[in-house]
Amino acid sequence: MGRLQKILIPFLGLVLAFWFYSARENFKPEMLKGKRVIVTGASTGIGEQMAYHLARMGSHILITARTEAKLQKVVERCLELGAASARYVSGTMEDMAFAEHVVKEAEASLGGLDMLILNHVGTSYFGYFDGDVGHVRKLLEINFLSYVAMTVSALPMLKESEGSIVVVSSMAGKVGFPFTVPYSATKFALDGFFSSLRQEFSIQSVNVSITLCILGFIDTERAVRAAGALLAAEPAPRAECALEILKGAALRRRELYYRYGSTRLPLLLRDWAAELLDYLVRSRYRLDGAGGGPSPPAPPSLSRN
Ligand SMILES: NC(=O)c1ccc[n+]([C@@H]2O[C@H](COP(=O)([O-])OP(=O)(O)OC[C@H]3O[C@@H](n4cnc5c(N)ncnc54)[C@H](OP(=O)(O)O)[C@@H]3O)[C@@H](O)[C@H]2O)c1
Ligand SMILES: *[C@@H]1O[C@H](CO)[C@@H](O)[C@H](O)[C@H]1NC(C)=O
Repeated sequence: MGRLQKILIPFLGLVLAFWFYSARENFKPEMLKGKRVIVTGASTGIGEQMAYHLARMGSHILITARTEAKLQKVVERCLELGAASARYVSGTMEDMAFAEHVVKEAEASLGGLDMLILNHVGTSYFGYFDGDVGHVRKLLEINFLSYVAMTVSALPMLKESEGSIVVVSSMAGKVGFPFTVPYSATKFALDGFFSSLRQEFSIQSVNVSITLCILGFIDTERAVRAAGALLAAEPAPRAECALEILKGAALRRRELYYRYGSTRLPLLLRDWAAELLDYLVRSRYRLDGAGGGPSPPAPPSLSRN
């Protein structure tokens, strides 16, 4: 028994390692050359970095967000970096008609679509849940419903091109995080919708890949401003994060974890030691404010008159 295990376990390890490496195709930048790609929320942060990587790889890029002045600058930079073409549409994803309009614009100007990268998020607060139901509804519209609306509009083009949908989510969309209750709800909703849709694509032989991206703490301005003082972890670089997302998308992965060590590994605990995982998540926050550290967001009263 003991000896059998000593032989069997390393053998299984070798077989798994071989399978893992041989079955995995490698990423090449040419995979995205000439591809027609929409990136939402590309005026700043990870979306902006994805646009620059796509530009270097020679893609046709259509970006969107609300702030026209920033989009203009990102488009200019994309053209300098070598994009096959680059354009923007500005507007708010609170409006489903606008979400659909962005897809129509890709059809009109690019004649089709190979990749839909859904990345934008509306502004929320970082603090205890304040009981504002209206805010939860609004955030669901921006972070979730507009993703659904764009997917529905883009699907005919994506079926035609055997394209890809990329959904940028978060650790907060896989496990409960404190101080991001409305945001977390919208990210869990994305997992439900797109994982379920992936199953139907598989049953119906619809060859459109769906890559759900589970990100940890990334060094974008918004995230660092909101959580930097309270989170004990170092944020990961946004440019590398953006490249990993594009690699996962080009390889048609089901899910993408970045960084692996701080996302995939802790999530292995979720199904059999959920309370331990909850504890580990809480322990990443500096909540005591001791030693002159930052204090936690003030807990509001949940009762509203
Ligand atoms: N940074 C992190 O630590 C982290 C961690 C996990 C997951 N993520 C995920 O990564 C993605 C990108 O995050 P990020 O940190 O790069 O965010 P960011 O820098 O705040 O960028 C958000 C983008 O969304 C746009 N946007 C905001 N409200 C909008 C609206 N109502 N309509 C249309 N566009 C709107 C913003 O542009 P305008 O203001 O010009 O509209 C901006 O381009 C998000 O899905 C986020 O949940 C980030
Ligand atoms: C699905 O589409 C991809 C990209 O066009 C292609 O490489 C793959 O062979 C297709 N798979 C099937 C089963 O048709």
